[in-house]
Amino acid sequence: MIIDHIGYAVEDVDDGKKALEALGFSFEPVVEDSDRGIRIAFGKHGEYRVELVAPMRENSPVSALLKKVGSTPYHFCYASDNIETDVAELVNRRFKVLIPPAPAVAFDGRRVVFLYSLAIGIVEIVEKE
Ligand code: NI
Repeated sequence: MIIDHIGYAVEDVDDGKKALEALGFSFEPVVEDSDRGIRIAFGKHGEYRVELVAPMRENSPVSALLKKVGSTPYHFCYASDNIETDVAELVNRRFKVLIPPAPAVAFDGRRVVFLYSLAIGIVEIVEKE
């Protein structure tokens, strides 16, 4: 699988955008995912894509991390041709499913899944377009 994006947990999307624009990234409009309680913005710089994820409420998926370490990169996302097969393979290789596959607003309803590896931390998988 190839890397789709690098995910940053940020306290504030606009501050995150300004910092990454200083590094050459250009951003798409912010998307609100009210199911997950997060605001998301994708940026691109050459072949690299980043995703800023900011909390909209106390119990968002990034709130605990932000409280602990502040704004930080926290996952690499890989694009999958077959999410069922790839997730099963990773589970065989000792990855644990943190959040099972579910459609994501930020990906026009394509499914994403979050896994955890003791060796490398959080990994996200997204279905290819
Ligand atoms: Ni992501």
